Amino acid sequence: TDATHTRDEKLLAICTLLNENIDYYNWVGFYFANHETKTLHLGPYIGAETDHTVIPFGKGICGQVAESNANFVVPDVAAQDNYIACSFTVKSEIVVPLFVDGKNIGQIDIDSHVIDPFTADDERFLEFVNVQVAQLFA
Ligand code: SME
Repeated sequence: TDATHTRDEKLLAICTLLNENIDYYNWVGFYFANHETKTLHLGPYIGAETDHTVIPFGKGICGQVAESNANFVVPDVAAQDNYIACSFTVKSEIVVPLFVDGKNIGQIDIDSHVIDPFTADDERFLEFVNVQVAQLFA
């Protein structure tokens, strides 16, 4: 629909803004949950193409956040056992769930090419971003 098209353009603009303004945000994208099939589906993103367009709940950092409803900060992806590698250039990752009316409908996922760049400030900032994003689904 036109509404979905407009929303995706806004989501892509947010990805672009974050990627271009924060030097350690090297891949920025949204995944959206299908609670019937228990899978995450890649939405708008900026950065390297990924094979992981569909991720089962529980799998990888993203899949774990779909079930935990909590932020997941990974300072060093090499130290994670339940991790889905997209690119060898990725060293760290942060995933923050996206809530609409209290329901976890997806997440923002950010990969970095440096080790341990994400602080509590990134978590608070991305939570704020997701509160704004949630308005697009109201
Ligand atoms: N690394 C993620 C998979 C998605 S890519 O980062 C885009 C994970 O372990 O869930």
